[in-house]
Amino acid sequence: MVRLGKKDLFPIGMGTWHMGDSSSKRNQEIEALRYGLESGIEVIDTAEMYGEGNSETLIGEAIQDIKREDIYLISKFYPFHAKEPELERSLENSLKRLGTDYLDLYLLHWKSSTPLEETIESLEKYVKDGRIRAWGVSNFDAADVEEMWKLKGGEGCTANQVLYNIASRGIEYDLLPLQRSKSLPTIAYSPIAQGDNIIGNHVLQEIAKQHNATVFQIMLAWTIRQHDVLSIPQSSDKKHIQENIDAASIRLSEEELQLIEAEFPAPARKMPLDII
Ligand SMILES: NC(=O)c1ccc[n+]([C@@H]2O[C@H](COP(=O)([O-])OP(=O)(O)OC[C@H]3O[C@@H](n4cnc5c(N)ncnc54)[C@H](OP(=O)(O)O)[C@@H]3O)[C@@H](O)[C@H]2O)c1
Repeated sequence: MVRLGKKDLFPIGMGTWHMGDSSSKRNQEIEALRYGLESGIEVIDTAEMYGEGNSETLIGEAIQDIKREDIYLISKFYPFHAKEPELERSLENSLKRLGTDYLDLYLLHWKSSTPLEETIESLEKYVKDGRIRAWGVSNFDAADVEEMWKLKGGEGCTANQVLYNIASRGIEYDLLPLQRSKSLPTIAYSPIAQGDNIIGNHVLQEIAKQHNATVFQIMLAWTIRQHDVLSIPQSSDKKHIQENIDAASIRLSEEELQLIEAEFPAPARKMPLDII
């Protein structure tokens, strides 16, 4: 389990970027999301940016008959909406599309030119009036997090969502240790590198064989090997979603972690934050 704010959550969630854009895939996508929720997943990650609301509308349809308390809904607002009155309008529109009266976590999608302190003040107001349970940030590097913590209310941040996968380990140099120093959890996006060609890697294939698993499952298990990272792979395929759920039960041995380390070494110096 991963603790986000006051909630202990299943460590694999569902990303939804590019979902809800195609009418021919709609039923399959709704079924996939429902299947994930019925099978143990709690977190759904979306953003006002995804299909300019299409992803949120799709999710709203998928969850309409599911008990709201059983779902942990994350959405994000554009940095150019980080100021009032745009921010409140964004939140209201996201709630409407999702068919709910609260978000569990509301994230600033990436850094904004609006002073963060001002945005935090609004977010804290929404926490108080119950429209969001918690707020956080996304694509914040170590210096950004340090700066945030100095601001009034900055320590109220519940998570930072950043790109993290076996082939993109830059955050391990400074961001992850920094967040761990104050128990700020990480949400790993693109955890399987968008299905990239890493699947051909022989070491990962061998480890996957030992676990009777796929390379994607090993990649996911690796992202959540420590208990303060939640991983949000995106899939519209029920079989893949079940595999992603099963990946949460895979424990990689010390020896396997070392083999991975040799193949995909942790960074030895500061790397710029990877962003998609
Ligand atoms: N905060 C940000 O700036 C930011 C940026 C990017 C992404 N995100 C979030 O993170 C989520 C995930 O990242 P992502 O969508 O970039 O990439 P990803 O999850 O790394 O990869 C998604 C791809 O992997 C495939 N896949 C998923 N599970 C699989 C499995 N078990 N076996 C084989 N293929 C599998 C999916 O296809 P199938 O449908 O065929 O399974 C899809 O093509 C996004 O959807 C979004 O919610 C956030």
